[in-house]
Amino acid sequence: MKKNIKIAVDGYSSCGKSTLAKQLAAHYNFLFIDTGAMYRAVTLYALDSGIINEKDEINEEKLQNEIQNIKISFQRIDNKNHTFLNGKDVEEKIRQIRISKRVSKISAIGFVREKLVDFQRKISENASVVMDGRDIGTVVFPNAEVKFFVTASPQVRAERRFKELSEKGENVDFQEIKQSIINRDKLDTTREISPLKKADNAIEIDNSEMTIDGQFNFAVKIIDKVLSEN
Ligand code: DC
Repeated sequence: MKKNIKIAVDGYSSCGKSTLAKQLAAHYNFLFIDTGAMYRAVTLYALDSGIINEKDEINEEKLQNEIQNIKISFQRIDNKNHTFLNGKDVEEKIRQIRISKRVSKISAIGFVREKLVDFQRKISENASVVMDGRDIGTVVFPNAEVKFFVTASPQVRAERRFKELSEKGENVDFQEIKQSIINRDKLDTTREISPLKKADNAIEIDNSEMTIDGQFNFAVKIIDKVLSEN
């Protein structure tokens, strides 16, 4: 087997990408890297430090000046991935809707993407990884051995996210979640830099009608075939 395998899992928000990526990483004993968590952590930093004001305007100059102070890392705690921002566990905070609503704007900024893409390549340098994101198969690892592009209908995605947040005790409104997903799709696919799009050689998985296990088994078959050829 080739030494370091890269598996890209790209796709729309809340469509089960990270569920699939985590399952695959555990199955193959590869490193799981959640790149959305990195953009979310930068958004949290920007909110907490007043870079995003009450009107939701971003002070890009301040962000650029401070970006080198933003240190992101990951740790596994009780078998779960936790994101750390400047040494603090922010895993819960970065999943809140106040972050989801604003993260697309932060992730459209060129110097933010540059810094995070560098970081993504660096932490994967000597490892086989499953990386979950939007531009992994197109920008971060255009030569990834396997690329998936995951989709599901906005209605199904909103239902899943609603359930997930409600179970965590967040007071959420279904329509607000659905609208936020639709808005995010629009921003993610139309932004100038690295817009979300399916890589030419990515395998599309529409999981609107698929079970989690069904999706996993489908992906494993494809990966096993590629691994046997490497
Ligand atoms: O996967 P997620 O919902 O946690 O991602 C949060 C946001 O970050 C999403 O709106 C788009 C952005 N993102 C990105 O632009 N590029 C990535 N590689 C990952 C996420």
